[in-house]
Amino acid sequence: MDNLRIPLDLVAPIFAPSTFGDRDRVHEIFRTLRRDYPLSIAEVPGYDPHWIVTRYDDIREITRQDEIFLSSDRSKTLASQYAEQLMRDYTGGLPHIYRTLVHMDEPEHTDYRRVTAAEFMPQAIMKLEPKVRAIAKRYADRLAGMAPHCDFAWDLAFYYPLEVVLTIVGIPEKDHENMLRLTQWLFNYADPELKRPGSDPTDPGEIIKTWDIVYAEFKDYYDKVIADRRACPRDDVASLIANGSINGCPMENRAAISYFAIAATAGHDTTSATTATSMWKLAEEPGLLQRLKDNPKLIAGFVEESIRWATPIQHFVRSAKEDYVLRGRQIKKGDLLYLSYISGNRDEEAFPDPFTFKPERSPNRHIGFGYGGHICLGQHLARLEMRCFWEEVIPRLKHLEMAGEGRMTESELVCGPKHVPITFEMA
Ligand code: HEM
Repeated sequence: MDNLRIPLDLVAPIFAPSTFGDRDRVHEIFRTLRRDYPLSIAEVPGYDPHWIVTRYDDIREITRQDEIFLSSDRSKTLASQYAEQLMRDYTGGLPHIYRTLVHMDEPEHTDYRRVTAAEFMPQAIMKLEPKVRAIAKRYADRLAGMAPHCDFAWDLAFYYPLEVVLTIVGIPEKDHENMLRLTQWLFNYADPELKRPGSDPTDPGEIIKTWDIVYAEFKDYYDKVIADRRACPRDDVASLIANGSINGCPMENRAAISYFAIAATAGHDTTSATTATSMWKLAEEPGLLQRLKDNPKLIAGFVEESIRWATPIQHFVRSAKEDYVLRGRQIKKGDLLYLSYISGNRDEEAFPDPFTFKPERSPNRHIGFGYGGHICLGQHLARLEMRCFWEEVIPRLKHLEMAGEGRMTESELVCGPKHVPITFEMA
């Protein structure tokens, strides 16, 4: 079989945000791709061709070679030719509005990552446990107060990681809700419930307009934070970013705003998605809650398996800086590679029984946090906050079941449950 090109009807759905509202369908598509087209080309009208990389080993091989597979010169997420052109017109030639770590290559990437890296290392994160646990306890109480019914995603999971990360960055609570709104407009631009009101997600011009509005709001807000922390530095991540220097010079403004923006978006949306997935799993999977109550040490494994299961960042794109042979295929200089983290985390060759949720899974070397030089900066914080939350909630949960259908966001990039209706009883 010539499996160099993927049939359009098989691959086109993964270019459409609405497909991701149906996770079973998405997994079915990637299961077929892994089996029949593990590394093949998608030629979807309106888009440049993309290699669709579905296998765990291939994704790791690419992401550990940042000098060959670049992040800065093309859109880091799926973008049509028209959207890319609009973006370049808008930015004066750049492929992105933001200049976050995700969008940088070496040597710049390491220079910028170093500004906050020590703060996110395991030793530093361990010291945050009392602070994070106090927030987790408050949210456990809040959940108990909502019994016997709530929509766990909408009422709670959206807010807990938001509060944790923004507290650590140093953003006052009164502004958290606004950061949530901006995150949802940005990541869920195509979701009918979460997108910017009135925007048309099928029009690339409108999508760029949303990004522009969100960037302008971030800039307006974080320029003031930067000025404040330069005048009076405090013990928070905002002060590190505001006073961070790159080769002896202050951080360039767009990069500084983007640094704040990634913490204020990817720093909670991903963790919320994973936390909501965990609750959905607890409510659905017979015996899981009792297993965790009987053995609280399993909660760390439950968190890890939830990240693999949820894989909230579903893909990123890299471009090849030079020719490269992968899985016997000739990748050419300039080619685009769509890395499906969601597929890699269900790869039958990497995980025994990948479609079974197992907190006991060991080792669990998932790629939910990515891999290589761009591996998630906030991974240890994310693990800590989810472990603290479940350690506070699980012993108190007496009864739990789904009270209706769960619903996923319609997003091809960051995706997770937006509705997890539950009936529950809590001590
Ligand atoms: C990067 C996932 C939580 C900040 C990444 C990447 C993934 C990811 C897949 C890789 C990007 C790439 O391949 O280019 C997740 C998941 C999380 C989570 C699944 C929660 C369950 C957080 C938190 C923060 C954070 C709490 C807090 C600040 C970042 C940053 C990067 C990043 C700054 C860019 C790193 C770089 O390019 O050097 N994340 N993330 N993330 N994440 Fe997370």
